[in-house]
Amino acid sequence: MELFADALRSLGSERPVIDVGCGTGHQTHDLASQGFRVIGVDPSGAMLERARRRYPELHLVQGDAGLSSVPDPVFSGVLARYSLIHVPPEQLGGVLALWAARVQSGGVVMTAFQSLDAGLHTDVDEFDHAVAPAWRWRPDAMAEALAGAGLVERWRLVARPGDGFHRFPECHLLSARPPE
Ligand SMILES: C[S@@+](CC[C@H](N)C(=O)[O-])C[C@H]1O[C@@H](n2cnc3c(N)ncnc32)[C@H](O)[C@@H]1O
Repeated sequence: MELFADALRSLGSERPVIDVGCGTGHQTHDLASQGFRVIGVDPSGAMLERARRRYPELHLVQGDAGLSSVPDPVFSGVLARYSLIHVPPEQLGGVLALWAARVQSGGVVMTAFQSLDAGLHTDVDEFDHAVAPAWRWRPDAMAEALAGAGLVERWRLVARPGDGFHRFPECHLLSARPPE
């Protein structure tokens, strides 16, 4: 998240950052408290209600990953932390294309998602998420989907915290729309 913030800072844009699937708003709040203009988006009214109670100053909008409910036409960046996992695989490319069309030149997209174990030879696999249907992705497959939308990988970090809480390896992947 610090590297995502660094990338946004070096862009020096006044455009908003969109926190897709912001949930209870803690990352939205973290970015806002660093001075970024940030809009949190989530389809769940209950999640947004919690976020509003906790951080009344945040700009929050109800809507899904397609971002049709966000009025601003252009974004400096998009953060999707453990929310793209809830988008059905056949819809992923379309969603990323919608983001890429609205991310400014040089703008950055950070996705964080549960990843596949080394022995699983597939691009994507549905898993038993406690709340909603969810899919975990092979990092290369996610990077290819982003690249297909014109968002070029800058770096990725795959880690498997050994805390007993994280069942799967997790990937943070930063991509960017190349400067024109
Ligand atoms: C595990 S929470 C992650 C919350 C937050 N991003 C974080 O990092 O803590 C997943 C969030 O994705 C939201 N979500 C589910 N389906 C979604 C969709 N189609 N588009 C955008 N967000 C979605 C859920 O409502 C939930 O708030």
